[in-house]
Amino acid sequence: MDKISAKWLQEAKDYLEFQVRQGLTEVIIPPFVEPSGPLGPLDVVRNDLGECARCPLHRTRKKIVFGEGAPAARLMFVGEGPGADEDLQGKPFVGRAGQLLTRMIEAMGLTREDVYITNIVKCRPPGNRDPEALEIETCFPFLERQIKAISPEVIVALGRISAGTLLGAKAPLSRLRGRFHDRGGIPIMPTYHPSFLLRQERERRWKGEAWADLKLVMGLLGLSGANSGDTP
Ligand code: URA
Repeated sequence: MDKISAKWLQEAKDYLEFQVRQGLTEVIIPPFVEPSGPLGPLDVVRNDLGECARCPLHRTRKKIVFGEGAPAARLMFVGEGPGADEDLQGKPFVGRAGQLLTRMIEAMGLTREDVYITNIVKCRPPGNRDPEALEIETCFPFLERQIKAISPEVIVALGRISAGTLLGAKAPLSRLRGRFHDRGGIPIMPTYHPSFLLRQERERRWKGEAWADLKLVMGLLGLSGANSGDTP
């Protein structure tokens, strides 16, 4: 057997064994959809993800939230996982936290279309609970492939789960933020999750710190921003 077939077979075996452990008794193969044009590297990743049923989150999700934005973005934002609004629309960060993220991006002098936005897990954890280790582990290879396809100059990790997963770090976010960390040659800037900032709205300190983090990112990308330096 050649190396590629052996790899494919091993992946199929791991996938089926995982499904059996989840109690699956039937294998559903999603229909093959003929692509309408040439596939870019990100489309290939989306196609491979398919109608994913690799972890239990598929049972409760409405839509997969793969990610959206520029396929060759210089800047990538990685959140934790879709919430209720994202689950309904199949798009990342479209609820209240998303509106704040959009304002932060615009304060940097960019639009959502200039950047790429995705999450650690692509399906909504029920009741907005934290994604479990097995769910993260199952979904993470797709994020790694998205990062490889986009090859951003910098990644902003939004919140504890995103920063902890991308950096393999257990330290609290307050100790990770405020500086770049290297991940395979790509600088990662951990910062507070917009949902956290919304919950702390009365406390200006956190928003100020998040904005300071984004200003470091702007410095790295040579961006001058859209406002006089106020927090968004
Ligand atoms: N929170 C996240 O982490 N991601 C989203 O897409 C929305 C809310």
